[in-house]
Amino acid sequence: MKRACIFVFSGTGNTYFVAREIQKRLQQDMPCDLFSIETHLDDVNELLQAYDLIGLGYPIYGSSLPSIVFDWLDRIEPIQKHAFVFCTQVMYSGDGAEYGARLLMQKGIYSQYQMHFNMPNNLTDVAFFNWIKPIRFDKIKGYVKRKVEKLVTRISHQKPLKTGRNPFSRFLGFLQRGPYERFCPPRMRHSIRIDTDKCVMCLKCVELCPTENLSVMHGQISDQNQCIWCYRCVNHCPVQALRVFRPIKKPYLGPTADFEILSVWEDNR
Ligand SMILES: Cc1cc2nc3c(=O)[nH]c(=O)nc-3n(C[C@H](O)[C@H](O)[C@H](O)COP(=O)(O)O)c2cc1C
Repeated sequence: MKRACIFVFSGTGNTYFVAREIQKRLQQDMPCDLFSIETHLDDVNELLQAYDLIGLGYPIYGSSLPSIVFDWLDRIEPIQKHAFVFCTQVMYSGDGAEYGARLLMQKGIYSQYQMHFNMPNNLTDVAFFNWIKPIRFDKIKGYVKRKVEKLVTRISHQKPLKTGRNPFSRFLGFLQRGPYERFCPPRMRHSIRIDTDKCVMCLKCVELCPTENLSVMHGQISDQNQCIWCYRCVNHCPVQALRVFRPIKKPYLGPTADFEILSVWEDNR
């Protein structure tokens, strides 16, 4: 019997939520394990060997991938496998999932199935995105389930699903990716700004950071230039002392009412 696995990175929980739903649905057809990219950067090659079908999931950042996912891709040694790629976004990415599929292809991993999931906004300090409506968790759950069903059905029947492959989506993706990849981390230095007057030194941000970017120096939280703009610390700081751009008013705490941010590290539950 074929075995599948999903590698996922999720800053604030949306992509993890979708990955869990895909895992649960795929398990009806074949065994499927879930791995967090941030905790499996070093053993990726051993893990890949053991599976026939590889899933990759990430949040869209400027029609591109979080830099931790690029790091993960860089570590992959060429191997011939089949894959599927999904991404979450608040609005639009053009060819966001197709871009990941093209990068996987350079390693010999061939994806025939790409899907985009529109999820709640986690960019809570960017003025343009502050119009976002209240989050309807019940609607999100139904929407994700329907799209996951479509994706897994296509995988089971081996019918390709190539979202974002047309020239128009590719062009829009390319337009957005250019400036993002030029000005985003890791090029942008000292991305996270810390309001030391507000900070209560609870160290939650230090614990949550996927890249060990935040640490305590001279009795204060300090930024080590490793920020990937995942917005996990920004949204989960209990006193809103952290920001990338403006101070935030309403943090995004996850895709369900009872979402626990620490679950983004959990492998198979
Ligand atoms: C730095 C950054 C850039 C983003 N760029 C886009 C974008 O280009 N298009 C879009 O629709 N959403 C964009 N988003 C929104 C996220 O992709 C979206 O909220 C995603 O579901 C977050 O997933 P996560 O909770 O798994 O981290 C961006 C978010 C961040 C933090």
